[in-house]
Amino acid sequence: MTLKERFGPFLKMWCARNGMVLANYSNGDRKARLRDYVRLKAQGRLLQNPADGCQLINALLATKNVDGDIAEVGTAAGGSARLISQYSNGKTIHVFDTFEGLPKPGKMDAGFVEGQYRCSLEDVQEYLKGLPVEFHKGRFPESAGSLQASRFSFVHLDVDLYQSVLDCLGFFYPRLNPGGILVCHDYLHVEGVTQAIAKFFADKPEGPIELIGHQVMVVKLSPTVIC
Ligand SMILES: C[S@@+](CC[C@H](N)C(=O)[O-])C[C@H]1O[C@@H](n2cnc3c(N)ncnc32)[C@H](O)[C@@H]1O
Repeated sequence: MTLKERFGPFLKMWCARNGMVLANYSNGDRKARLRDYVRLKAQGRLLQNPADGCQLINALLATKNVDGDIAEVGTAAGGSARLISQYSNGKTIHVFDTFEGLPKPGKMDAGFVEGQYRCSLEDVQEYLKGLPVEFHKGRFPESAGSLQASRFSFVHLDVDLYQSVLDCLGFFYPRLNPGGILVCHDYLHVEGVTQAIAKFFADKPEGPIELIGHQVMVVKLSPTVIC
């Protein structure tokens, strides 16, 4: 019996009693995905924790057979976009960011400051060079002007602010194909994000699914609306 087999169950229960969940990621494809996450995290650009990183990959893989492009709003230094690109099956990935940091936070966004996460567009372009990535610099949703007719299979939101989340949902929800998945970071971790998700999905057929870590996931059920 290995040390992990012997002490794993105790460690899991210790974590549970102390408000944490410990998961085993040491088998097969899971192990490979976690290794990819660890390698990328070591490059110092990715802000997702291990659970978030692995779940992002899992959700993306589940949309392999859904038509449409991939999008990420809140790319910052490019860490999560690079992780997505490793599992994107050659689909186009639209990345959106001001690259000048967060827009002005509103009343719901305590703790954030304008300009936070500022990054150089040229530096991120160099980091993501050779990948099927299209850059959309500027404040969303204005920066999505050229994509009105696009349809999506997978969307990752990591924008921290109440209004940014609402604007992203307003744009992507009608353009997400059935079976497509939207993952949003900072759910139940950041008040503005949690409120925006609750408000937007209050009258939709899709129930947001809380994930382990800091994410929420929505699987699109209703048909794509042609705008
Ligand atoms: C936490 S960072 C993203 C981190 C990145 N996803 C990662 O895991 O490496 C949040 C980003 O959201 C961007 N952002 C927030 N609201 C935005 C908006 N309305 N339009 C464009 N970018 C926005 C900010 O500029 C910032 O770079």
